Amino acid sequence: MTSSRPLPDFDVVATSGSWLHRADGRRILDGSSGLLCANVGQSSPKVLARIEQQFHRYSFGGAAVVQPHIQMELMDRLCRAVGRTEDSVALTTCGTLGVEVAVGLARNITRIRRGKSRGDILTSTLSYHGNSALTLALAGNHARRPRPEDALGLGPAFAAPYPPTHSHEQSECDASCADEVAKAIDDRGAENVAAVLLEPVNGTTGGAYVPPAGYLRRVSEICREREVLVIHDEVLTGLWRTGTPLASHHWDGAEPDLCILSKGLGAGYTGIGAVLVAPDIAPLIRHQDADPLPAMGTMATHPLQAAACLGVLDELESMDHNAFTARGERLGRALHELAGRGPVRTVRGLGHLYGVEVEPGLLWPLMEAAEERGVFFYPFTGAGQPRTEGLVVAPPLTSTDEDIDFLTAALADAATALHHHG
Ligand SMILES: Cc1ncc(COP(=O)(O)O)c(C=O)c1O
Repeated sequence: MTSSRPLPDFDVVATSGSWLHRADGRRILDGSSGLLCANVGQSSPKVLARIEQQFHRYSFGGAAVVQPHIQMELMDRLCRAVGRTEDSVALTTCGTLGVEVAVGLARNITRIRRGKSRGDILTSTLSYHGNSALTLALAGNHARRPRPEDALGLGPAFAAPYPPTHSHEQSECDASCADEVAKAIDDRGAENVAAVLLEPVNGTTGGAYVPPAGYLRRVSEICREREVLVIHDEVLTGLWRTGTPLASHHWDGAEPDLCILSKGLGAGYTGIGAVLVAPDIAPLIRHQDADPLPAMGTMATHPLQAAACLGVLDELESMDHNAFTARGERLGRALHELAGRGPVRTVRGLGHLYGVEVEPGLLWPLMEAAEERGVFFYPFTGAGQPRTEGLVVAPPLTSTDEDIDFLTAALADAATALHHHG
């Protein structure tokens, strides 16, 4: 197996919807929404209109420079889009910084509310939360943080509810894997733990693993009983990637205290991170004894960034949501049929986010065969020893039925071709 993917050997001269138009006259379908972010396709007129309008008004105005009207409009619109209308919002420039800000806020909040001074943040063995020194140290993605010393003594705290540490038939699992979280908190002492940070549906580390029903609710109960906050990293999953506005909406009782959005909000048009804070804890951030907010930054709350995100929300909210849901199901059905074909081992996922796990060593050949047939994907190199690997299938949410059918037919053909040559 080659250790990294070779760069694509084509130039792109134009884009339309989910398609890239190559310099050689061929076109290629974006099967992974760029880096799991170009969720409303490329070159959207709605996004352009918003950016243009704001550009002609003014193009820079940090929160301390002019009245942040457009940022306030975005915060309000975002909260309504995900059904958390009473939340407070902090904006920043990317997913990593969103996680950093959420960690800082959670530590501030628990310091004020519970007098917790140590403020540990607990994460799972199968997680990615960004590429800063802190987020790499915290998370469980060993492919991106291979050296134990770079864990800075932090590192993941509890086993993820996924293979190789947990295998379960989802329908039969009683979500007792959530007890791993209880144990991790109790081992450190709840008074030393500020928050549990997790991806409600796994992204690129394991390849779109979905937790057993009841898992997130049980984690929330465990944390509430111990006065520990729950932070959901919905950087990748937020804003309909899994079919619902937030991935946690798939289950009752799974709403977190803090939630981070990023990729789906900027949709590849701009860097952005948004941290949503529940109304029962947000006032503590402004408490007279609170520490300074960790959310300021030169380019945070940039007006053009806010304008682009409003255009993305325009796109997302003008989708025909019934047809969108049906398209996700169509995608899922076709992908599940690939399980066992050629190099494909298993398929999992939700909405417009799937992990297609392949036999070790066959990831790059499959990606190459798919690219020859006009579609590209993002790889995952995940968990266990030897590591599992596969494709993340995550086309733009605005793809058409024809796009979805093209994608699944091309992937099926690529898998079959590898089988015959294997
Ligand atoms: C779940 C998750 N959290 C955080 C990040 C970091 O976001 P960014 O790359 O925008 O800093 C990513 C990026 O892939 C992610 O998938």
